[in-house]
This record gives sequence, C-alpha cells and structure tokens, in this order.
Amino acid sequence: MTAAEVWAPGARPSRPYTGGVKRVALLGATGSIGRQAIEIVAAHPDLELCAAASGSAPLDDVDAPLKQVGGDLTELLEQAQPDVVLNAVVGFAGIHATLWALEHGVDLALANKESLVAGGELALAALRRGGGRILPVDSEHSALYQCLEGREVDQIHSLVLTGSGGPFRGRTRDELADVNVEQALAHPTWTMGPKITIDSATLANKGLELIEAHFLFGIPYARIDVVLQPTSIVHSLVRFRDGATLAHLGYPDMRVPISYALTYPERASTPLAPLDFSSLTLEFQQPDTGTFPMLALAREAGERGGTAPCVFNAANEVAVAAFLAGRLPFLAVSDVVADALAQTDGAPARDVSDLLEADAAARRLAEQGLSVA
Ligand SMILES: NC(=O)c1ccc[n+]([C@@H]2O[C@H](COP(=O)([O-])OP(=O)(O)OC[C@H]3O[C@@H](n4cnc5c(N)ncnc54)[C@H](OP(=O)(O)O)[C@@H]3O)[C@@H](O)[C@H]2O)c1
Repeated sequence: MTAAEVWAPGARPSRPYTGGVKRVALLGATGSIGRQAIEIVAAHPDLELCAAASGSAPLDDVDAPLKQVGGDLTELLEQAQPDVVLNAVVGFAGIHATLWALEHGVDLALANKESLVAGGELALAALRRGGGRILPVDSEHSALYQCLEGREVDQIHSLVLTGSGGPFRGRTRDELADVNVEQALAHPTWTMGPKITIDSATLANKGLELIEAHFLFGIPYARIDVVLQPTSIVHSLVRFRDGATLAHLGYPDMRVPISYALTYPERASTPLAPLDFSSLTLEFQQPDTGTFPMLALAREAGERGGTAPCVFNAANEVAVAAFLAGRLPFLAVSDVVADALAQTDGAPARDVSDLLEADAAARRLAEQGLSVA
C-alpha cells in the first residue's frame, strides 16, 4: 500500500462518519494522552465520548455512557460502535483495538504506535479490507501527515523524523552507566507516560516511530531519516523531489495532534498560543547511535521485516518495565533487545495468533535476558 492509499483524504471509511456529533471511543482514558483527549472532546461541541477504557485505574471521573476497566477492548468497541477510535493504550495491549478499528473501517486516531509497529503488515491488510483510515496522533506522524496531505507518493524524496534526543542527549556511554529512573523520566520538552518517556531517553521511541512512519506512509526505511531538534519545535519534515522541504512547527503540546486527528479535516481551534518567533532556537544534530543503539536496532528490525519489529517492541517493553522497576541498568535495555532480536528468525506472522505467539516468545527471551544482564 502506498502513502496515498493510507492517508488520501478521498479514501472513505466503509462506515463513514457522516457529519454531526462525532462519537469517540477513548482507549487509555486515564493516561497522559487520554487526559488531554478528554480536554479536547470537552471543548468541542461536535465531539462526544461514547466509550472510555483503562487498564486498571478507575474511570469514575470520566463522563462516558460506556466504561470498561481492563478486559477485552473489542467487546467495548462492538457495543459502542464509535465513529472514531482513539487508541491511547500503552504497549502491545492495544493491538486488538487497532485491528478492530481497521477491520471495521472505523477511523483510527492512533497514539498506540506499538500496535502498528508490531502488527505492521497485518494492520495494513486489515486497513485495506476495512477501507477506513489511520489518523496519526504521534506528533511527528501528525506533522508528516499534514506536510504530505494531497501529495503523490512519487513526489516524496524522503521523510525526516525529528526528536529532542531526550534527557541524556550529548552524554557518553560512561556517563549513562549509573543513571537512575528519576533522571530518565525527566524529559526536557514533553510530559508523557513513563513507558514512552523511557523510550525517549533510550531513543527506542524514535526507533518505534521510524517503523511507524514506514507503515503509515509506505516509504522505504532508507528514505526515512532521523534528526535531533532539541527544543521540539519542528515536529518533522518532508523532503520533496523538487528540492523543497516542508516542515511542521509548533510548541510541544499533544493537544494539537489529538485535536487534529479527532476533528480532521476541520482543524478545530485549541487553547495553544501562536508560535512566537522572537524566542525560538532551531538547532539540528545527528543522533548518536553508538551511545543510543536502540535507534539502529529498530532500523535493523524494520529492514528485516516479518515479526522482527514485533520482537523489537516486545523485548523493549519487558526491558523498560524492568528498568522502571529498578531491575535493569539503563544501558542494558538495548542489550536485552539486541539479544532477543539475535535469537529470533523474525518469520512473518500469517495471522493474529502468529503475531501473539511472536510477541510472547520475544517476551520470554527478554525475561531470560534480564537475568544475565
Ligand atoms: N504521552 C504522550 O505525550 C505521547 C505522545 C505520542 C505518542 N504516545 C503514545 O500513546 C500511547 C499512550 O501513551 P501515554 O503516555 O498516554 O501512556 P500512559 O500515560 O502510561 O497511559 C496509558 C494508558 O493505557 C491504559 N492501558 C494500559 N494497558 C491497558 C489495557 N490492557 N487495556 C486498556 N487500557 C490499558 C492505561 O490504563 P491504567 O491507567 O489503568 O494503567 C492508561 O490509561 C503510547 O503508545 C505512547 O507511545 C504518547
């Protein structure tokens, strides 16, 4: 599938939203994205929550007719029949909801990048069958989507994903040997949930985003670059074949891409101040993949294809949970992931049960890796 087929404004969902109030199913309502999404929905008269879900936290203060804590998210979606699913669950746990939305041709506002990274080809096949669309919520992919909109794929030279570099940008490996959880959670520009914040510190997040961009826009890995832009003002760029480069700029605030995805194509107003150019610093640097190997490991997993991205994601989830629990040093996160990747053949998943097995096997390998790290 080409970029145009994924995001072409003309592509109609098989169960199209036909105007009026748009009914949003919010999965991960208690999280960082979930809370900001509730604020966006509350501020917009044409949006309403028809369902909300969390993993284990109570939803008492969430105003939605259908609520579910834990359990099978597809049952909630079947009951709610939403116009749009905002998948803001963290991790591979979001896979079934992503596939449900794609299979049913319901718009998928996707924050849960792990499901597209791990589900890759299966997700795109479900998207083709369902005839719906993915509206990216990740700020970089929302930026790319906006720069790309209306363009033919063959006009694109390359995509450039930007990243802040996280709290440890500029450090050497020696300087990272003893970093603790609190230091790794101190992100310089974004306030996010703990898993993605650690992923930002290791650059695994940029690696996941690289694979996410490949699947979303159908661009080969060799034509997706990553550049660091420490203040997170430039959210990503597209280079076109004629030498022109379009960039998306804005303050680092997830309410903008959430609002864009939920109100697409309306681009509703948000409480954000316009960009003030008198105080901007725009500096670009190359990522240090020697100190932060997760970006190179993700690229390698993406290029291998099959279930290698699923293995990368699963091993990373295990390693990050261990780091957060104080069971693994920061630098060993990439060792656990590299070992898991080296021990798997990455054979393609023919169906969801293959994918679930690949995820489970990678988690077992990573757990074994923890004991030797
Ligand atoms: N935060 C950001 O700024 C940001 C930016 C770009 C992309 N993203 C992506 O958005 C996703 C969410 O990130 P976040 O930072 O919002 O994470 P978070 O703050 O940790 O929130 C995660 C949410 O997922 C829920 N959840 C976990 N497992 C679940 C399950 N099995 N069933 C239903 N709900 C489940 C959690 O519920 P409980 O509270 O009950 O655990 C919580 O509501 C991630 O994929 C992340 O990479 C986030």
